Amino acid sequence: MARKKIALIGGGQIGGILALIGTQKEIGDIVVLDIPQVEGMVKGKALDIMELRPHDGYDANITGTSNYADIKDSDVVVITAGVPRKPGMTRDDLLAVNLKIITDVANNVKKYAPNAFVIVVSNPLDAIVYAFYKVSGFPKNRVIGMAGALDSGRFRAFIAMETGLSTQDVSCVVLGGHGPTMVPLPRLATVGGVPIDKLLSQDKIDAIVKRTREAGTEIVKLLGNGSAFFSPAASIMEMVESYLKDKKRVIPSAALCEGEYDVNGYFIGVPCVIGCNGIEQILEIDLNSDEKAALKNTVDHVKKVVEETEL
Ligand code: NAD
Ligand code: LAC
Repeated sequence: MARKKIALIGGGQIGGILALIGTQKEIGDIVVLDIPQVEGMVKGKALDIMELRPHDGYDANITGTSNYADIKDSDVVVITAGVPRKPGMTRDDLLAVNLKIITDVANNVKKYAPNAFVIVVSNPLDAIVYAFYKVSGFPKNRVIGMAGALDSGRFRAFIAMETGLSTQDVSCVVLGGHGPTMVPLPRLATVGGVPIDKLLSQDKIDAIVKRTREAGTEIVKLLGNGSAFFSPAASIMEMVESYLKDKKRVIPSAALCEGEYDVNGYFIGVPCVIGCNGIEQILEIDLNSDEKAALKNTVDHVKKVVEETEL
């Protein structure tokens, strides 16, 4: 059986790491596309990874290009095309510039990879994935935004760091928009099945929730010239693998809600079953009144940013 084909639209910080991780997982043949002005960069990154393959015997082809014809018939498209924020900026500050970029990308993906499962990453995520959906006309099961995988992963990491227990045994979920209004759910967080309020004080839990919401900004401040890329790339790859291997993972992701969580017509971070048919199901959680209020707050924020797209 021929290898799957994965197109990475945007070969910058995240795109480059994605190409490496995807090769190491032998996820398929990878095409990294970027703008002509930096075609050398993506060609160079692809060639460097091709030359890495013998060291652990990875079999896959990685190429770099600025020609959309090279993504023809890709099975998966991951879109990180866009600018990241700098210290002092919010993700929403990126809307104008990245909306123009996603519009161009969506028209090209529609033309060259009309049957792909598309994972949108560019910020402000909840509005940019909505824009891709509107411009491309793809069905809702094949358009998903990566954010909850990262935010939930960060929540898990902080719980493991505070308890000193293995990250492998931490389970938790973050709902809603990809920004300060996101909704981590400590009530449902466990380590090896043990609720975290049996392991940590309420003050510690509150501090972890706050750090999760601000985790992106914490790294942007430290880096000084961009945003996180290692953990986003790993988060994206989990979604790619669940789709290509039909793993039915339940991964918090931005999906088009049509009634779920009382949301209609917006992409919101919710637990998604990801399998060979893309988003196969949105799982609903019975939220308490405080959680419902927090979700309404984040949905209201997403609606405001989406309205600015005028789509
Ligand atoms: P980066 O600047 O390193 O890479 C972005 C790449 O996109 C650049 O190489 C640029 O040349 C390319 N690009 C720009 N316009 C393009 C176009 N029209 N077609 C193809 N490529 C184009 O940035 P990064 O750190 O990789 O982040 C990429 C995006 O992902 C940013 O918008 C960032 O805010 C976002 N992000 C989202 C999450 C999330 O959880 N959803 C996490 C991290 C970063
Ligand atoms: C950021 C990414 C993580 O802008 O969304 O910080």
